[in-house]
Amino acid sequence: MFAYSAPVARTGIRPATSTLCATRPRARRQQISRRFQKSALLAVYHMPRKESIETVQATWARAVQQRERIGELFYERLFTLYPELQSMFRSDPAVQRQRLVDMVDAGVNLLNSRSDLEKALRDLGKRHVKYGTQEEQYPIVGANLLQVLETMLGEEHFTDSERGAWQDVYEYWASVMLDGARTVM
Ligand code: HEM
Repeated sequence: MFAYSAPVARTGIRPATSTLCATRPRARRQQISRRFQKSALLAVYHMPRKESIETVQATWARAVQQRERIGELFYERLFTLYPELQSMFRSDPAVQRQRLVDMVDAGVNLLNSRSDLEKALRDLGKRHVKYGTQEEQYPIVGANLLQVLETMLGEEHFTDSERGAWQDVYEYWASVMLDGARTVM
């Protein structure tokens, strides 16, 4: 269901000869050029569509009214379907539930501030390497989250449109987390 393409490194792109550069002293031009080449190596993530972001923010605003229930259902369902994952989770369950919901909350609210969100997600992805998380487990957790939202909101409020939007956004989160994870693997 979820497919994460490896981030594409856009290498070999030469800075455009702009009038801005042409009017700067040589040293300044080289500085701009180096900065551009560094930024050109940044990963390109799976980007969610604008409509997906709006839909996700609207559905989350409804779901988060029952904040505690989200965390309860999330882990209950995850450990029922995948009992082998339970031993990976060592912290106090109440704290885990709260952290997960807080992170999803931030992940939804920061969709309009991509650089802050991506920094947080890359760091989260790095920490997940220490937790022993495998790339192939990301779709499991994503599907679990979507199913929990459907259970909470009901099929009439979580149609194919909402499901598709959440899938789009989750794929984005996961692609950024995995990019962070790859830097420490
Ligand atoms: C978008 C996907 C995910 C999000 C938003 C997420 C979020 C979080 C958050 C906020 C924490 C709290 C600790 C911290 O901030 O470092 C956490 C811990 C953890 N997550 Fe995730 N996670 C995701 C995917 C996964 C996946 C795919 C797995 C694989 C099973 C996983 C397993 C764990 C484990 C084992 C912990 C540590 C629990 C403990 O404290 O004992 N997570 N996650």
